[in-house]
Amino acid sequence: MSKNRVSRRQFLSYTLTGVGGFMAAGMLMPMVRFAVDPVLKKEAGGNFIPTKQKVADLTDQPVRVDFTFKQKDAWYESDVTNTAWVYKEGGKIVALSPICKHLGCTVNWNTDKAHPNQFFCPCHFGRYEKNGKNIPGTPPPQPLDTYPVQEKDGYLYLGKAQPRTEV
Ligand code: FES
Repeated sequence: MSKNRVSRRQFLSYTLTGVGGFMAAGMLMPMVRFAVDPVLKKEAGGNFIPTKQKVADLTDQPVRVDFTFKQKDAWYESDVTNTAWVYKEGGKIVALSPICKHLGCTVNWNTDKAHPNQFFCPCHFGRYEKNGKNIPGTPPPQPLDTYPVQEKDGYLYLGKAQPRTEV
C-alpha cells in the first residue's frame, strides 16, 4: 500500500472545500457584478444636450448659454449646469468652453476694457481671441475647448467639449 494514499477524512475535506468554494463563487459573483456594474458601464457617447438658445437669435457677438444635464458618476446621479460662449461666424455656429486653459477659471467675453472684443480670464489676466485662440504672452497655453453643435427644431444642442490644438 502506498504511503501517499489519501485518507477518507482528507478526501472528504478536499471534496467539501472544492464544492463549498464553487458554491461560494456562484453566490458571490452576481453580488460583485451588481456592486461594480455602474463603474463598468460605458458612458453614453455622442449625446447632444438641448439648450434654450434659439439658433436664429445668434449673432456675431458671443452670448453666454447655460445648459443643464444629468451626470451619472457610477452610483451617483446629479444635475450639472455648464456654460458655453456661442456666436455665429459666416453662418457657422461656434460654441466655446468658458474654462480657461491655464488653471481652469471662467473666461468672460469683452470684460477687459484695455483689450475689447476678446475673452478675458480675470484670474491671471489670460486672454483669447474671439475664435478662442489663446493670445501669446498671456498665461493660457492652449485655445479654448469647443463644443460640437447641432440645430434641432430651431434650438441649439451642444455635445461634449473637446480640446483642440489649432484654431
Ligand atoms: S486661470 Fe485663466 S489665466 Fe490663469
